[in-house]
Amino acid sequence: MTVQSSDSETPAAADTGATPATTREIHLASRPDGVPTAANFTFVQRELPPLAEGQLLVRNTWMSVDPYMRGRMDDKPSYIAPFEIGAALEGSAVGEVIASRAEDFPVGTAVTHFAGWREHAVLDAAAATPIDLSIAAPHHYLGALGTTGLTAYAALTEVAPVRPGDTVFISAAAGAVGSVAGQLARELGAGRVIGSAGGPAKTRLLLAEFGFDAAIDYRAGDVAGQLAAAAPDGIDVYLDSVGGEHLRVAVAAMRPRGRVALVGAISGYNGEAASSGPDLYLAATKEVTLRGMLVSSYFPIFGEYIAKAAAWLADGTVRTRETVYEGLDQAPAAFLGVLSGANTGKMLVRL
Ligand SMILES: NC(=O)c1ccc[n+]([C@@H]2O[C@H](COP(=O)([O-])OP(=O)(O)OC[C@H]3O[C@@H](n4cnc5c(N)ncnc54)[C@H](OP(=O)(O)O)[C@@H]3O)[C@@H](O)[C@H]2O)c1
Repeated sequence: MTVQSSDSETPAAADTGATPATTREIHLASRPDGVPTAANFTFVQRELPPLAEGQLLVRNTWMSVDPYMRGRMDDKPSYIAPFEIGAALEGSAVGEVIASRAEDFPVGTAVTHFAGWREHAVLDAAAATPIDLSIAAPHHYLGALGTTGLTAYAALTEVAPVRPGDTVFISAAAGAVGSVAGQLARELGAGRVIGSAGGPAKTRLLLAEFGFDAAIDYRAGDVAGQLAAAAPDGIDVYLDSVGGEHLRVAVAAMRPRGRVALVGAISGYNGEAASSGPDLYLAATKEVTLRGMLVSSYFPIFGEYIAKAAAWLADGTVRTRETVYEGLDQAPAAFLGVLSGANTGKMLVRL
């Protein structure tokens, strides 16, 4: 786990055992024009309301920052509502129940929920899910055992299924989804696994730690040439987190009846001019399947996935990295960092 230096002076409210009267949270101050900055976020101290029947007070211990949150900063219709200016941001978090008026969630219960970007959350019990800390450490529930792990698993088992012997290409391969996906591809029987990431430190890690057979440094240019060298006979499966040039090159390298999981398109999230996309006629003539996915459609298999993934973590089939920023003060920097590649593995904030 890589821990960034921190100048946070965030008090640890639960260390005293007391229930705090106030908490701190981060609101959207303004919408970004292109690349977001720290000025788009503001810190707010507010009173915690008394708990109603059926509610919990959770002290958040970890929160996730994710690339999709960039889309929620824009006021555009999408699969999830935009963040509101002047309201607390939200996202996945892990915490501990420190006060409860819900029978099934006694004080001390560890939970995941969606009220991140704040030090404490008042939640209806239905909005919290208990987690089993005997099978994995809490932060894994935001990474390999969380939605990024489930995304990798669903992409390679349901959306673009890996078959024994396949050559599989993964983009953003040193990140949260990609690093798990590369290892799962191997577990699912891939014959050759190729990853793309930004810079030599990350490509070295793909080979040394995440079990990839070949690694492409897309920042060095000529993605098509590097992929052709790594997969001279083409690829069968591509997990796309990037869009643009990566997707174009991958479709061109597809073998007949190849499969592409359209998971993300981070190269365009800040409104960058799109580089030319894939040649869809090529996809047609090679009978390639390109299929989009939203991880929320796979929540029905989340429990089953967590059990499998916890076993893979325990026996070393899946290894993880985390980049951790310390304290709520660092959350905007962590979010800006995940968009620009400051993370290896899952980007997290420890609160
Ligand atoms: N469909 C779904 O339900 C779903 C669910 C989860 C995630 N996603 C998507 O999956 C992708 C990965 O998400 P994640 O949470 O695992 O994030 P992540 O990969 O941990 O972090 C994002 C990474 O993207 C890379 N990147 C940034 N700009 C890039 C560019 N222009 N070209 C190539 N790579 C670039 C950076 O790594 P480098 O240093 O290598 O550039 C960065 O570390 C994102 O596109 C996200 O939106 C989709």
